[in-house]
Amino acid sequence: MLPRITGTSVVGRSLQRGLVMSISPTQRMLAEGAGFWRLNATLPLMRAVDIIERKRDGHELGSEEIEFLVTGYVGGQVPDYQMAAFCMAVVWQGMTSAETETLTRAMIASGETVSLDGIGRPTVDKHSTGGVGDKTTLVVAPLAASMGVAVPKLSGRGLGHTGGTLDKLESIPGMRIDLSLAELVRCCREVGMAVASPTADVVPADRKIYALRDATATVRSLPLIVSSIMSKKLAVETEAIVLDVKVGEGAFFTTLDQARAFANAAIALGERFGRRVRCVLTAMDRPLGRTVGNLLEVEEAIATLRGDGPPDFVALCTEVAAQMVLAAQPASDVDALRRNATEKLKDGGALAVFERWVLAQGGDLSAVVDGRVAYASRQLEVVAKRSGHVSRVHALAVGHLAMELGAGRETKESDVDHTAGIVFDVQVGDRVEAGQRIAVLHTNRDGDAAIWADALRDTVELSAEPVLVAHPVIAVIGGAETN
Ligand code: URA
Repeated sequence: MLPRITGTSVVGRSLQRGLVMSISPTQRMLAEGAGFWRLNATLPLMRAVDIIERKRDGHELGSEEIEFLVTGYVGGQVPDYQMAAFCMAVVWQGMTSAETETLTRAMIASGETVSLDGIGRPTVDKHSTGGVGDKTTLVVAPLAASMGVAVPKLSGRGLGHTGGTLDKLESIPGMRIDLSLAELVRCCREVGMAVASPTADVVPADRKIYALRDATATVRSLPLIVSSIMSKKLAVETEAIVLDVKVGEGAFFTTLDQARAFANAAIALGERFGRRVRCVLTAMDRPLGRTVGNLLEVEEAIATLRGDGPPDFVALCTEVAAQMVLAAQPASDVDALRRNATEKLKDGGALAVFERWVLAQGGDLSAVVDGRVAYASRQLEVVAKRSGHVSRVHALAVGHLAMELGAGRETKESDVDHTAGIVFDVQVGDRVEAGQRIAVLHTNRDGDAAIWADALRDTVELSAEPVLVAHPVIAVIGGAETN
């Protein structure tokens, strides 16, 4: 039997440190038997277990070590259990900015990037960390495009209580979201915006690593979250990125501290890639706007583009669109941009871009425009049992109820019912009288209407005193506008 090389043998230690670049066939056989391999002829032989151990013990990893792990994992040489152990070591030990940058670069390098040469306008991407009733992209992308920038966007599907832009778009008959990267760029050049599902070729490393993190309780790590989200944004080569970082019980980040930490790390990472990143921290302790559910949110987005949106949603969209244009054109005056955004929502400029965009991606808006939308088979009215001022609408509970009605996706494999959801008649700050309708539940399911009505009422807190409504934008971070 051949003697094994271990990480602690003389040859092993030399291999680990990259001191042995050229080895004999016998040494190679021994090395491979002990789990060593190398990424390419110019890099040293390494073993995943040694890298995991070094991270576990709090050392800063070199770029070849991180590239070795990511490339090896995507290529199948590093097994799930080693990648999971590595992610857990990162959860405990964290990563330096340099390590996070390398991880992000390695993930991007695992797939294709989208060049935007020849778009002819400043380019900006927008990402939301997800929330309940979050239809912001449907409004801010055409709004920002109507203000002169181009918005090429790869979006995701909803999971759990948070909705996804792609599901909302699929509630428009004919709407294609499976654009090739070339089609995405063409649509953006012609219309000023495009929204598509990421092809399998964009950051495949993140897809594989995120699924593993999800199953191994390793999602909650700032460097892993930042590199995961930003790798997908940086792979599309926009000049600027605006992150709508939701904060509150219905969001991924439940506290302001978590949201700020993410925002600062994302901005710093963007800078290392030469991109301008701005973060808008926004409230997700209550649902955004009056609707939750895919088709219902599309209708609300169109109403907003017609100048008839709910005040919280209009305020959020105006700010995010202004920040998108500012990020793409840093010399602009932000107050003038806010005024311009307000104007484009009123004068139909943003709606015209929206209509051209939907048409360009094969969508048919005629049913929505003509009031012929096919709603869910059951519409259940919920009335208030007592009077008061709406002081809270609990976003997380609303998200869960919308899922029960069929609007959400329990697992990645499950289908969503595009017509299911909730339309609120009231929002935080409104006065409610006993017996007044406060919401309509839309569903195709057979559940007990009384139980659902009670659940809806439980999401709405009433107070005896009038309630001051907080602006949905909590803070803007990045560039000169930081506050
Ligand atoms: N969303 C992502 O895409 N990645 C994370 O790590 C967390 C949330």
